[in-house]
Amino acid sequence: MPFAHITGWGMYVPEPVLTNDDISKLVETSDEWIRERTGIRERHIASETDFPSTMGVEAAIRALKVANLVPTELDLIICTSSSPEYIFPATACLIQDQIGATKAGAFDLQAACTGFVYALNMGAQAIRSGSIKNVLVVGTEVLSRFTNWKDRNTCILFGDGAGAFVLQASDQPGGVMSAVMHSDGSGADALNVPAGGAHCPATEATIREGKHFIHMDGKEVFRFATRVMGKAVTEALEQIQLTTNDVQWIVPHQANYRIIDSAAKHLKMPLDKFVINVDRYGNTSTASVPIATIEAIQKSQIKPKDKVVFVAFGGGLTWAAMVVEWTGPLPSKKHVRVEPYRWFARLRSYIRRILRHIEGFFSRKEL
Ligand code: ACO
Repeated sequence: MPFAHITGWGMYVPEPVLTNDDISKLVETSDEWIRERTGIRERHIASETDFPSTMGVEAAIRALKVANLVPTELDLIICTSSSPEYIFPATACLIQDQIGATKAGAFDLQAACTGFVYALNMGAQAIRSGSIKNVLVVGTEVLSRFTNWKDRNTCILFGDGAGAFVLQASDQPGGVMSAVMHSDGSGADALNVPAGGAHCPATEATIREGKHFIHMDGKEVFRFATRVMGKAVTEALEQIQLTTNDVQWIVPHQANYRIIDSAAKHLKMPLDKFVINVDRYGNTSTASVPIATIEAIQKSQIKPKDKVVFVAFGGGLTWAAMVVEWTGPLPSKKHVRVEPYRWFARLRSYIRRILRHIEGFFSRKEL
């Protein structure tokens, strides 16, 4: 059975930064309150030209470069987002088209902020089954467009960004070692976007009432998160007979510094084993685990052979943890250039659209 290794990683955050002081001009709050209750100082906010797909593409291209893999070698793209481009088509398909992953299947996976860990596990399982070799997992968020900037309970929390990992099959032991995934739909009301789906289609009234924005029972989510984070880590470690002593790094979902602190206490682990960057990005939902991991790699904190645990929670309610033995790019004699593929992809997409029009024109004539 092949092993599933994380061989490439890339992140993208839009340039504009929104500080707590900026938010205090929109709602009644203060930098001091936000920092004290959440640990957040600032977050990046998408500009008008940033979309979940375009941000996901930037992260994906960077991840492919690290993995030394071209888009046409990908077998599968899983995109996970709490703020997807559309209800359908899948954002994964838009990314597939924009990077020119000509032979890849593509689908979206929805598990709110837990999505990236779920998606990594699904990608790893597909590799472990032996049916495919190369998977791209993307978490990408433009939550700022689903945020009610008049609601101080939520608008202080979220930020925009994207992160991507490449998973590849190898006979060398390592990579994804274990994972647990959980859900509890009885808590669906605690964190949701009430309108815009089939249950409550968008109308003038739903928009007037702000039901197309994120709604959250902050206290309830806080209690749930502190209850499940530590437990999920222990469960994933126990699956492979490891303990927290074997772990070099925990990369938690970056929602609130106090939630991470409480998980550290539950696990009796020092906080300096936790990768934390919520102060500079806020909660970027599905992108938070890859962005935090990538920063830790860039600071030479996460190194090959380290045991790393990803743990996340979110709407659904959902939560998950995964243990990984860090490896990095697979050894290879080739050196690929990824950048030209996106330009070929653009041209290919354009030509295919034109051909589809021509085909449509002639098939109408035939009818
Ligand atoms: N500025 C100033 N005061 C505020 C603000 C604000 N931004 N927000 C709330 N308050 C007030 C409240 O009105 C309340 O006042 P009151 O006591 O007079 O009623 C007081 O501050 C305390 O409010 P709490 O809600 O008890 O504040 P708490 O300490 O719980 O912090 C927070 C709120 C930060 C939202 C916290 O509950 C939290 O982080 N929850 C988890 C949220 C989360 O992780 N969500 C993402 C999940 S992942 C996903 O799937 C998207």
